[in-house]
Amino acid sequence: MANKYLLFLCMFNTFFVPILSQSSDDFKNFLDSSTFTSYNKKIFPKEQQTNKLTVYMKFYLIAITNFDEIAGQLELVGFIDVSWTNDLLTWTTNTNPMTEILLPQDNFWKPSLVLSNSVESLEELGHTSYKMRIKRDGVHTWTVGVVSKTGCPVDVSYYPFDTQSCKVKFTPWGYYDNQVFLENTTNVIDLTYFQTNVEWDLTATTVDQETFNSAAYLTYTLTMKRRPGYFLINMVIPIVILGLLNGLVFLLPADSGERVGYAVTAFLTFAVFLTMVSENLPQASQPMSLLCYFLTLMLVMSALSTIITIMTLRVYHQDESIEIPKWLKHLTSFLTCRKCKKWRNDMDPPEIEPDPTEEIDIDTPPMYNYDYDLDDIQWKTVGELLDWFFFIMFLIGTITVAVFFLVPLATAA
Ligand SMILES: *[C@@H]1O[C@H](CO)[C@@H](O)[C@H](O)[C@H]1NC(C)=O
Repeated sequence: MANKYLLFLCMFNTFFVPILSQSSDDFKNFLDSSTFTSYNKKIFPKEQQTNKLTVYMKFYLIAITNFDEIAGQLELVGFIDVSWTNDLLTWTTNTNPMTEILLPQDNFWKPSLVLSNSVESLEELGHTSYKMRIKRDGVHTWTVGVVSKTGCPVDVSYYPFDTQSCKVKFTPWGYYDNQVFLENTTNVIDLTYFQTNVEWDLTATTVDQETFNSAAYLTYTLTMKRRPGYFLINMVIPIVILGLLNGLVFLLPADSGERVGYAVTAFLTFAVFLTMVSENLPQASQPMSLLCYFLTLMLVMSALSTIITIMTLRVYHQDESIEIPKWLKHLTSFLTCRKCKKWRNDMDPPEIEPDPTEEIDIDTPPMYNYDYDLDDIQWKTVGELLDWFFFIMFLIGTITVAVFFLVPLATAA
């Protein structure tokens, strides 16, 4: 007993000087006095057993240790300062000069606090090794450690620019709200001891008192914003680059024989990225990540570019004996700007007049003259035109898709 008392003295002598005049025997006598012997921890700490007891709580968050978006679980470490007044355990200076004492929690009544949205166990918080500090006026202060894993609904619509909001709910298990009521002493979580998380930025915390099914709850809400840097560098930027590379297949010479291989490789790379991203996301269909839609669209574009490449290759290698349809010739001529050259020449006759061969063909129908810009159009010309057309289409398409999906993502609060 003396040893214990010495330890006690060493630890807490700063708090109460009167202790020095208190010998260990006196303290033992005090513990054996009626204050303690008549005390029964099973009795609700109110003179009137039907009265309401208010339990004050202050939550100190130490760290967010993990957030598992796939399982929807938040892991954190913290502690709560819990305090209440026990009307049945008070003493005067006559019985004991000490203003406060520190004794193991199991000797006293305590609110059976339970973390109600825990995913691991619904056991009462506290541990036999914890101490309770009791003041002369009956105020109990009990510091409870919390190492929790709580369920949290995950909304990954804006992944990797998402903001998650998780709740940590405490309830005095078994008591009605008119017996034990939980009251917050601050309107935020205390972050004095908080260590910042590398993945999540804790943007806001709130506290709410709730009553559900006649039970009191104290709910702490943590709003966390993902730091997107990692995903931006490792996922989003490579995907956009891949999308741009995808369009380049049309600039690859048709005769190189590399085209289809290139297109298929780009397609496969997308498929790999899609797998990598979806591994980090919950398999929820309801709020599906915009990034998933973006990747799928890119994958579709990649598949389209493969199909179009094969088609244009067929155009390139089309037998020249097969007549090119007139409309296609006109279209090609129009798009390759042969027509505008011709029109410019028509408007400016002196430049073309010096050619003597034109004079000979004076009898030919005007139609032939009109068509001279279509003469040298071959299948290869059509193929080249298609290549440029699709290259520009894919470039614009990729940039449009990227802007359309990534800008709302990045600007989502
Ligand atoms: C307890 O929380 C509520 C709701 O957030 C808040 O309005 C109230 O001010 C808080 N109480 C104290 C003492 O800070």
